[in-house]
Amino acid sequence: MICLKAKPLVEKTQEHLIRFAQNFNVHPRLDVLLVGSNEASIIYVEHKKKAAQQLGIDVIIHSIDSFAKQKTIENLIIQLNNDTSCSAILLQLPLPTHFKSDALLTLIDPLKDVDGFHPINKGNHLDQVLTFVPCTALGVIRLLNFYQIDLKSKHVLIIGRSSIVGKPLAIECLNQDATVTIAHSATRDLPNLIDQADIIISATGAYGVVQWANIRADQIVIDIGIHRKNDKIVGDLGTKPTDKIVTAYTPVPGGVGPMTVNSLMYNIFKAYCLQKRSIEYWNKVAQSIDALTL
Ligand code: GUN
Repeated sequence: MICLKAKPLVEKTQEHLIRFAQNFNVHPRLDVLLVGSNEASIIYVEHKKKAAQQLGIDVIIHSIDSFAKQKTIENLIIQLNNDTSCSAILLQLPLPTHFKSDALLTLIDPLKDVDGFHPINKGNHLDQVLTFVPCTALGVIRLLNFYQIDLKSKHVLIIGRSSIVGKPLAIECLNQDATVTIAHSATRDLPNLIDQADIIISATGAYGVVQWANIRADQIVIDIGIHRKNDKIVGDLGTKPTDKIVTAYTPVPGGVGPMTVNSLMYNIFKAYCLQKRSIEYWNKVAQSIDALTL
């Protein structure tokens, strides 16, 4: 039974990127737009800032009042698009409800869209051309590659159809030759679908929809959920019972969460290289990072 911890891959990637940045004089800058005071968003942004600064990435957090006007954020995005020292723009979601998130995400320069949420990048992802793969989907694939879990011809069940996680993950799994099923809140007989899958990816955003009791010993479980239960952080399935045997599973915390942040770092370096060097240059850098997972 393999516990798919992020730490070994995160550390290897960090060492590699620090050396790369120093040797090749690479200095990206991340600009984060943090609107309002959503408690989870503040914590996520702190994690991202810390991880970026460890790699020598400059980070500017633009804290924006929740009563600000849509136009104020639009103007800031336009200013950052035009600022050649800004490599990456991240609009932390969710926004307070009166903002139109889609309109703001669409305004971000696709070459600075390190979340991969711009419609052009989403379309490019579908077509397998140059894009930014959303960080959680990229993180899951990099983690599976690192632990040499081959997706070819595997039946992957993704539970959750969000634009941020479920859908991009389905595309990534398809690109790696998996057979993909996407289940969601209107799906009938989930236990039957779980039974047919080789790999179960839970991205429901809800605790307990998928249960350890439904998982067989020859299956792999990727848990993307983060919930607070009795002052502990647990995933969608809750803590794995100690006597439950599976082929492999991601721990929560310490599995997909750190891979999401680490993959954001990957995308920030990618954005810098595409803007300041060339696609060919980035392809070589990507090869050297991807080699860490082989
Ligand atoms: N909110 C929850 N996950 C994410 C993410 O990956 N990116 C952004 N920008 N906001 C989020």
